[in-house]
Amino acid sequence: MQLIYEGHACFRVISQGQEIIIDPYFNGNPLAQHRPEELQPNLILLTHGHGDHLGDALAIARHSGATLAGQVDLLNALDHHGIESIGFHLGGSFHFGPFKITMVPAWHGSSISSSQGALYGGVACGYIIDDGEKKLYHAGDTGLFGDMSMVISRYGLDCALLPIGDFYTMGPQDAVTAAQWLKAEVVIPMHYNTFPLISQDPQQFKAAVEQASDSRCVVLAVGESYQL
Ligand code: NI
Ligand code: MN
Repeated sequence: MQLIYEGHACFRVISQGQEIIIDPYFNGNPLAQHRPEELQPNLILLTHGHGDHLGDALAIARHSGATLAGQVDLLNALDHHGIESIGFHLGGSFHFGPFKITMVPAWHGSSISSSQGALYGGVACGYIIDDGEKKLYHAGDTGLFGDMSMVISRYGLDCALLPIGDFYTMGPQDAVTAAQWLKAEVVIPMHYNTFPLISQDPQQFKAAVEQASDSRCVVLAVGESYQL
């Protein structure tokens, strides 16, 4: 499984020639290194409807023909006419190419900004992505919650992608506790330094994770790739 960090909460996950992109936020992202037109994923996964996660998902789906998947209430609120879509819900899974994708909880909201005001987007979520060899957890936007220890750690995670920005999600201190509970082999921080409000020092987070847990922490620069 290959990971490519595209900044904020956006990762590309590649296995056996199939590519998933999670939360494809390029337009409006000051750290973005790609234009949405350059991406050719097979599947787009959404954690929730906020603009920094929904991002360019519909445009990418339209030009690439990618399938769009997310929580069913979120998809119902989107104009996904002509886009292949998979609306599922917490605890549920589906298979896509080499991947098994499971939706897990996140403590966060979900709405979609529109000219008519905010549209209801259901609940936010995270994902477990299993390509048969490695298990990856994308936490989405979330605060720390106990079921990381009770439910999510049971998957036997190889890698956990955790928000550390604070303000909109948990900050570094709670993310260290998340790392202790999740027991993933590798932890990768995300959702920081995109805006001044979520400024964090990822090297400080790395040192704290490696001191407090058995996980290794890998800090990826935007555009950097990591082989899991
Ligand atoms: Ni959000
Ligand atoms: Mn966010």
